[in-house]
Amino acid sequence: MLQAAGGITFLASLQELALAAGSMPSTPMATSVEPLAGPAKLFPVFTALPYLQPGASSKLVENQEEITIAWQTDAVPMNFTLSYGENDFSEVATIVSHLRTVGYRREKDKRINYFATLDGLKLNRRYKYRVEMEGERVVEGFFTTRKPKGVKTRFVAFGDNSNGDISDRAIAFQAFKAKPDFVMNTGDLVYADGLENEYARLFFPVYNADEAGPRLGAPLMRAVPLYTVMANHDINGRDASGKPVVDFDEHHDVLGYFTNLHLPLNGPTRLNNPTPLKGAQERIDAFAIVVGTKFPRMANYSFEYGDAFFLCIDSNTYVDPTDSALQAWIERELKGSDSIWKFVVYHHPAFNVGKEHYRQQHMRVLAPIFERNGVDFVLNGHEHNYQRTRPIKFKPTDESRAKVTGTSDRLVPGEFTVDRNFDGKSKTKADGVVHIVTGAGGHILYDPEMNDSAAARLRPEDNNVDYVDVMVSDRHSLTVFEVDGRKLKLRQIDEWGQLLDEVVYQK
Ligand SMILES: [Fe+2]
Repeated sequence: MLQAAGGITFLASLQELALAAGSMPSTPMATSVEPLAGPAKLFPVFTALPYLQPGASSKLVENQEEITIAWQTDAVPMNFTLSYGENDFSEVATIVSHLRTVGYRREKDKRINYFATLDGLKLNRRYKYRVEMEGERVVEGFFTTRKPKGVKTRFVAFGDNSNGDISDRAIAFQAFKAKPDFVMNTGDLVYADGLENEYARLFFPVYNADEAGPRLGAPLMRAVPLYTVMANHDINGRDASGKPVVDFDEHHDVLGYFTNLHLPLNGPTRLNNPTPLKGAQERIDAFAIVVGTKFPRMANYSFEYGDAFFLCIDSNTYVDPTDSALQAWIERELKGSDSIWKFVVYHHPAFNVGKEHYRQQHMRVLAPIFERNGVDFVLNGHEHNYQRTRPIKFKPTDESRAKVTGTSDRLVPGEFTVDRNFDGKSKTKADGVVHIVTGAGGHILYDPEMNDSAAARLRPEDNNVDYVDVMVSDRHSLTVFEVDGRKLKLRQIDEWGQLLDEVVYQK
């Protein structure tokens, strides 16, 4: 029932390999027992089992599809090979590896990050792959490439997860159960500082678990690719004036977004407000070697999947969304898409009525660009609950606070036009953009008391316009999208698999 579009099988345990090499006894060694004769052969511990990443592909082009397979071990160097193919293992991928300094509360640990990019692939095809270590098969797996236009797709969206709570595991399980083609995470993928060791402790064991279960998580990351966006918990420090920055002095392994993930690389090459860095130059240099051209470019990107187009934007406080170069890139990307459905994804919601982050409204200034270029949905996180707006149009009347970077008080007042006709059942044509906060992905919930109060969702700053149609804030949940040509179904599912919201959009 739970078979997904990809998966892996471990073919040999490391203990078996060690036994084959004659270095490890089959029973635990007592301290008085002499070690076995011969040179000891060390085998690494996998700190992350092979996981799928979308790689650099953005537009859907037959025979130019990519998938990246990555894994991590502790610092025992090994010779790995990765072979793959549709029917056999005749192709061999180039494996890139980097030694990393990581550590939980100390910086003594070393780890090796491996990845291999499989390119020149066909669309909507199942490929198998095999990983060998020192000539021994250790993993066999398979994955399915992206679906072309005209083919039905299903994806899940959620954010603000991987904090170590049991709810992370429940949401991972529900996401896997939905049998998605891919995961669209809305940011704050890993708490609290986006460190590589936080990915290893809190993210991979849950989202790349060996077995699926509500209290276990799921083998999701080895089954389908995951996309995400840069969010506030991907950065970890402050500069002298108190503005958020990435602080390499605090941690070697910050910005795991760029070192662990392999996302499309078609964003702007130069940004006027890139992710700010501080710290010892040698640490920044070590990071630069690992990420190459991914930093800072991978903070913004776009991709197609089936009949949907996705524009993923960094919305952190250092970003000035009134910047003309950024706006020109956004407009060009949206205009250049002929997909039926257009999604924009960023972390900080422009339209939300929660109490936690209501004043971080800087992304509101982009609403007119989205509206005139046919955007259907904006997906956000940051607020740890579910909020779905009615289809809305918004005209900013004062953008001055949106230009003030580095702060969390960026109110953008303006005029709303709300489509009250749409009901998602018999009236399914939306006149406006639907903004969805789906940040109930695992971390502690915000504003549970607002769940049953439509009145609490009215904001005097917004002239009490009731633009949020549905809000569920008393339970964790995720969004399941089904794109079927000109029909799109949205379902919100809670951590126990119960349906919270269901609407259909039709074009
Ligand atoms: Fe956040």
